[in-house]
Amino acid sequence: MRAWIGTIAVSAVLALLPGCGKDSGGTVIRFVVQPDAGGGFREIVDRFHNAHPEIRVEMVEGPASTDSREEMYIGAFMAGDSPYDVVLMDVVWVPKFASQGWLAPLDDRFPEPARAAFLPGDVKAGIWEGKCYRVPLRSDAGMLYWRTDLAGKPPETFEELAAKARELKTADRGGFVFQGRQYEGLVCAFLEVLWGHGGDVLDGQGNVVLDRPEGVEALRWLAGLVGDGAPAGVTTYQEEEARAAFQEGRAAFMRNWPYAWTKMQEDGSPVKGKVGIVPMVHAPGKASAATLGGWGFGISKTAKHPDAAWTFVEFATAPEQQKLLNAKNGAIPTRRALFEDAEILAANPHYPDLLKVLLAARPRPVHARYSQISQALQRHLSAALVKKETPEEAIRQASSEIRGIVGK
Ligand code: GLC
Repeated sequence: MRAWIGTIAVSAVLALLPGCGKDSGGTVIRFVVQPDAGGGFREIVDRFHNAHPEIRVEMVEGPASTDSREEMYIGAFMAGDSPYDVVLMDVVWVPKFASQGWLAPLDDRFPEPARAAFLPGDVKAGIWEGKCYRVPLRSDAGMLYWRTDLAGKPPETFEELAAKARELKTADRGGFVFQGRQYEGLVCAFLEVLWGHGGDVLDGQGNVVLDRPEGVEALRWLAGLVGDGAPAGVTTYQEEEARAAFQEGRAAFMRNWPYAWTKMQEDGSPVKGKVGIVPMVHAPGKASAATLGGWGFGISKTAKHPDAAWTFVEFATAPEQQKLLNAKNGAIPTRRALFEDAEILAANPHYPDLLKVLLAARPRPVHARYSQISQALQRHLSAALVKKETPEEAIRQASSEIRGIVGK
């Protein structure tokens, strides 16, 4: 198995070079995936090889950040002759990849009756201009984790969370941790704060409304916590750094995706049995909001083996494989029926509540130029968190750049 992973890492590099990574014969399909910490993806590939020895799947474990993996795919598509027949996509990539013509429509292979078995938000995120490009593999929605042994009850408002975080921090324990590094995860965390204040980035007509007072309020709250209710180092955190801090007892509260809960329950986890998971806090009189995340499979327009690619996509998104990925990696299923599965419920008693959050989760701006919108947000949110810009400046600058990008 180790040697196989080594080969994959090399093929990941070769695959980025034009003309390399071509099949030397036989049916080989490749895709890029996040680091497979729980081993669930590797086991799915093993199962697939047993079931379909005629097809070889090469799984390239890319960097942890979604932005970097997106660049790997984009680089390959732009070079032409992409080595990736299968495209494992974040929800926010679909508009760009589809509008660039990089994906094959899946409407015939994945028709509406088949889609009905999946959570509606995840299906919708795979549709661009009326065509379906993505089969949902795992769902996601941001949540608030809290230490049941430290706080008597979970906070409900931003004010309560900030106050509790300050109260519970000690010399070796921070209050609140989240994804504060300059990357996509920061946008996801900020949107929950923004929506929870009643604000938004774009309105229903696509106009930029980020610079309304709620936007400044939201960023003032988040940036105000850094170095106080949140450790200063949070500005370097992605998901796994936040999880490690919380799991090792170095934080009282955490914003993260639901996968972290599975990790917290593993034997040897210092916080096992001491963790609650609830919807993100909100401003008084406003509602909680969760950012919709999640991953799914598309097929490249130039795939050399589209049928083999589909065989794999169908296999990997089947109930048994989603269950495996849930048990091993904490991935949230996208098939509705799995939220009533006895085994899944026994290990995850909070899933009925999580399902409600998933069904209400809000998408990030759905736009073909989303990655540029996100980058403008990332730059200025991060500048505010490290105190290079005031929250007012950061929101003003980000809004003006986003107006330039969306043209409204
Ligand atoms: C998770 C989400 C994904 C999001 C990413 C940000 O992987 O599923 O949608 O973009 O986190 O870091």
